[in-house]
Amino acid sequence: MADPEFILNAWHVGALSHEVEAEALFPRRLLDRPVLFYRRERDGTPVAMLDRCPHRFAFLSKGRRSGDDIECIYHGLRFGPDGRCTRSPYQDSPPPGAAVEIFPVVERHRMIWIWMGDPAQADPATIPDHSHMDREDMRPLLWHVQFAGNWQLGNDNLMELSHLFWLHTSSIGGWKPDAGATPGEVYSARSADGKVFSRTLVPDITRPGVFDNNIPAGQAYDQWTATVWEAPANMRVTMGAVPAGDDPASLRQPYMEQTHCITPETAGSSHYFSGFTRTFELDRDAEGDRRFVEFFRGIFEREDGPMMEDIELQMASHDLFAHHPLVLPRDRGAVLARRMVAQRLAGEQAARGNAQPEPALAG
Ligand code: FES
Ligand SMILES: [Fe+2]
Repeated sequence: MADPEFILNAWHVGALSHEVEAEALFPRRLLDRPVLFYRRERDGTPVAMLDRCPHRFAFLSKGRRSGDDIECIYHGLRFGPDGRCTRSPYQDSPPPGAAVEIFPVVERHRMIWIWMGDPAQADPATIPDHSHMDREDMRPLLWHVQFAGNWQLGNDNLMELSHLFWLHTSSIGGWKPDAGATPGEVYSARSADGKVFSRTLVPDITRPGVFDNNIPAGQAYDQWTATVWEAPANMRVTMGAVPAGDDPASLRQPYMEQTHCITPETAGSSHYFSGFTRTFELDRDAEGDRRFVEFFRGIFEREDGPMMEDIELQMASHDLFAHHPLVLPRDRGAVLARRMVAQRLAGEQAARGNAQPEPALAG
């Protein structure tokens, strides 16, 4: 059996809330399966169904809405939000057992989370905490980009943020005095409760921050970054600054909290849902916020995205350790995440070991 590429029994971000508009049929390939998202008419709650008609496998997203039912454009079968066929133009009643697969979804923190594994295990309480995105007063912004690389490259990228000072030197990495190790810099990473926590403290910076970090101009500060990772590829990154030498615990409010969630499109391509809340420049209008999004999207498209796509080309498989990479001290967080993903993948593969093979369809 081929190595499994995806963690199925987990919540993945399938779409951002604003991507799935009220009347729309929104298709997206996730975990190498076609998914159709839409919203119920009555209350707007999202539905996610396999985007493949069980008759001749047309994309249902190319069909039409009939209330909350989806009518296939090819021969007119209709399916309801529970997946059951509600109408066949050729029979008095729908064919017995005719249905399309429905995936559990929960809309939370301005994102639509989807569970593509065993529905019985889909517990909304295990959705990663990105509740900062609910803070209207911190002006939440979220956007979607893609890259032609395996989803775990996103974990590697974000769990080792020293790349800020090399790859992003000319964009968002300019606040560190020099690109190498800074005297007194502290880095730590540990795992607990299925999460990985990493933290970096860069002391005594005199250069102004890229964004207003609540430190008066000219005053030296300690910059800290804290990342919480949860499988498969969900990260919340908190950035803050305190006057040099102060206890970071004295910080009441970080100046920026970032969301980074990566969902496989296929084994070799990924969706990247990214965003942040902030305490600075809160007076920007909608156009100003749009420019913020374009700024960060541009950095990804010029810097992180091409880097991960290069790495995808350099690897013969998606098993990083099979390629014997050099491991540096700062890789600890990324290595912990890789190990936890490997355990989850192996556990799911073992659980599926005796399952009957399904018919071989592309989705
Ligand atoms: S393919 Fe959908 S009704 Fe025939
Ligand atoms: Fe980056």
